[in-house]
Amino acid sequence: MESAHAHRKDEHLAVAEAEYRKEPAISSLNQVRLIHRSLPETALNQVSLTVDDNNFPLSSPFYIEAMTGGSQKTGLINEQLSQVAKETNIAMAVGSQSIALKEFDTIATFENVRKINPDGFIIANLGAGHTAYEAQRVVDMIGANALEVHVNVTQEIVMPEGDQNFIWLESLGEIITTSAVPVIIKEVGFGMDQTTIQQLEQIGAKYINLGGRSGTNFAKIEDRRNRSLSVEQPYQFLYDWGQTTAESLLEARYAHASIIATGGIQTPLDILKAQVLGAKAVGVAGHFLHTLLSKDVDALIAEVTLWQDQLRQLYAMVGAKQASDLTQVPYILSPELYNYAQQRHLIN
Ligand SMILES: Cc1cc2nc3c(=O)[nH]c(=O)nc-3n(C[C@H](O)[C@H](O)[C@H](O)COP(=O)(O)O)c2cc1C
Repeated sequence: MESAHAHRKDEHLAVAEAEYRKEPAISSLNQVRLIHRSLPETALNQVSLTVDDNNFPLSSPFYIEAMTGGSQKTGLINEQLSQVAKETNIAMAVGSQSIALKEFDTIATFENVRKINPDGFIIANLGAGHTAYEAQRVVDMIGANALEVHVNVTQEIVMPEGDQNFIWLESLGEIITTSAVPVIIKEVGFGMDQTTIQQLEQIGAKYINLGGRSGTNFAKIEDRRNRSLSVEQPYQFLYDWGQTTAESLLEARYAHASIIATGGIQTPLDILKAQVLGAKAVGVAGHFLHTLLSKDVDALIAEVTLWQDQLRQLYAMVGAKQASDLTQVPYILSPELYNYAQQRHLIN
């Protein structure tokens, strides 16, 4: 019999997939249009998708974002995702390992990711509020190349059994300063604003995942799990809380840290747009999970491979040989997004 914590992992998976099947998210990056040019002066064989950051080298700018582990079922999903990451040579984050710090029999559901992909770029995951020692333990558990620490106040508020203490900056700072691997501070789908980014930079954050709204929605997922109140969906009013991925990328325009975008990525064009707006890397969770659950491992391998080819084509189309050229690509914002940027004093 698995614990309540392990059962929560299964429920997250089931509800996220049920919601995706019902109504896949519309990417907020639809509010950004890239300007086409007929003479890009590039050739496909000149394009490289490599992200060269010494501490964070990726062969593709997109990766499988944190989702599973902690129960028998989600351990199997981790194995399949790890196979995909290995076959396609993309990075992969595991789901929160906090369960494995207490329930040792769940450690294997995370360790399996490293066993399957001994040389891959694997990212550990833990929630804010943990100590630097615990952070080191989850990194060691899977020989991780980087660590994500997620900040998820809205999820905790809506979750019936959620945390009630959100005083996190000091312990986040300790994790960042003591970690042997790069630390990414990550939202889980409510986006970030300029002040949050500055607060994180002040404690030394070098990698920030904006985790914007418009994809998997944890207010909705936790609300669907909540059967403790007499009202159905008691937090429905929070379903559009937070900044979208596109808005968060604009909020991050003046950031010094390397920016990662996650939330509602559905196509290679979404990835490209996020990069044009300043993202160094892009995480994909719900969409890849859906491909895996509704089809199989081979279908996900085929999809990731196709996305890599298509992203290379898109780089060539906009005249970029490498990621650093993408910041030169001209774009326009939809009136709504432009209005947001103006009210937030993010553009002139
Ligand atoms: C089933 C499921 C479980 C998740 N569990 C975690 C987690 O343990 N830790 C974390 O940082 N993010 C977790 N996430 C959030 C994703 O990493 C990602 O930030 C979010 O789903 C937005 O991306 P998407 O719109 O591509 O799904 C989970 C997402 C899904 C779908």
